Amino acid sequence: MQNKVKPNGTATLTVKGTTAELPVYSGTLGPDVIDIATLNKQTDHFTLDPGFTSTGSCESQITFIDGDKGILLHRGYPIDQLAEKSNYLEVCYLLLNGELPTASELEDYTTSITMHTMLHAQFDRFFEGFRRDAHPMAIMVGAVGALSAFYHDSTDITDPYQRLVAAHRMIAKMPTIAGRAHKYSIGQPFISPRNELDYASNFLRMCFAVPAEDYQVQEVMARAMDKIFILHADHEQNASTSTVRLAGSSGANPFACIAAGIACLWGPSHGGANEAALNMLQEIGTVDRIPEYVARAKDKSDPFRLMGFGHRVYKNYDPRAKVMQKTCHEVLEAVGHNNDPLLQVAMELEKIALEDPYFIDKKLYPNIDFYSGITLKAMGFPTEMFTVLFALARTVGWIAQWQEMIEDPTQRIGRPRQIYTGAPMRDYKPVGAR
Ligand code: SDX
Repeated sequence: MQNKVKPNGTATLTVKGTTAELPVYSGTLGPDVIDIATLNKQTDHFTLDPGFTSTGSCESQITFIDGDKGILLHRGYPIDQLAEKSNYLEVCYLLLNGELPTASELEDYTTSITMHTMLHAQFDRFFEGFRRDAHPMAIMVGAVGALSAFYHDSTDITDPYQRLVAAHRMIAKMPTIAGRAHKYSIGQPFISPRNELDYASNFLRMCFAVPAEDYQVQEVMARAMDKIFILHADHEQNASTSTVRLAGSSGANPFACIAAGIACLWGPSHGGANEAALNMLQEIGTVDRIPEYVARAKDKSDPFRLMGFGHRVYKNYDPRAKVMQKTCHEVLEAVGHNNDPLLQVAMELEKIALEDPYFIDKKLYPNIDFYSGITLKAMGFPTEMFTVLFALARTVGWIAQWQEMIEDPTQRIGRPRQIYTGAPMRDYKPVGAR
């Protein structure tokens, strides 16, 4: 990746009589940044920002988010346009290559991904090491990490061709692994991919077909699945993407880096929120119990939070949530659950929360996870599979960000510092003197 920041003056920081001159850079969109790389050398101080609320970790040209305006762009294209007009594999190509493909480029890319969807035959035995009731995210973390044990010929990160092969293999095989994780947990036989099916239809068939009968993927479900994959594809420097970048900065192989991203995504504050949001809606159960839960969410002494609400960056409606809500209605219509009580609770909860001063003051809006759970449940997925689908879709974003980091000529191993408040230096005490 070519460095494209534009110098835009300097910032001065004076601490204990020492003044540091720090370069300021402008990007294409968004706030300017202050480059603090020389701060420690100039002032013998570190900065401290544990949640990275004011800290940028890298330059990137992949995704831009304007949290105040609720804007999400992938290589400049708005997410709502991509969700409505594109398809997931075309968005994969865009994220990885920077431009939308021509018709022949898309055809070649789609063929390449399709021809990599099968797993090594011995890989299927890997799943048998798990208990049947293992959470499918535990299986995903293990299985994706294990891919490096099966595909040694695409683990040399210094070889651009091996990086390309590893990227194709992971994007192609994640649906097959995720489908197997689901089948394994319900004790049904694995279903192999079919090359005549599109990416989303192939995945749905691997999840829901059984050998005992033919299975026809419903077009509305395939379209909804593909749209959900697009909505989850990438999201700037979120926690799991930052995990992938940090793991990659040590030179770890791409499969290990993506497995690290899956592990981080599992947390309920991050990708696990879709599973937690549905569990929350089921716990609330009926519209009349909403005020009790809204009160709990506002009560500082109560750890309960409205899952699917709030975001570190979006201080406006998450643009993905708007598309997700529309997809939710389409799927519920298709399955005849238009008046699903969970949807009634979700819509009333959203209405109440958006009118409540607490949520307005803290700029807490529904995020992508608020409606995704209801949609995925209506599509027939068990709750434990929700974050697996998020990981499947986000694999391309993790790979695109990892690739950009590897190709960045200024890239170094990530190694943050700290402020130390532990014991001062002291001598060892023999056990008899303690
Ligand atoms: C994802 O980063 C990404 O881009 C992530 C993601 C992606 O695509 O990769 O968008 C995917 O992770 C979406 C977020 C899913 N998580 C949830 O829905 C879980 C519920 N949300 C919260 O846990 C929280 O909003 C976070 C984790 C999403 C954001 O946390 P922050 O930025 O650290 O904000 P915060 O916890 O400091 O909250 C600010 C204030 C606090 O009150 P005060 O301490 O200022 O008084 O808002 C309150 C919080 O108590 N608050 C909530 C709340 N979220 C924040 N109060 C009630 N319910 C909530 N959901």
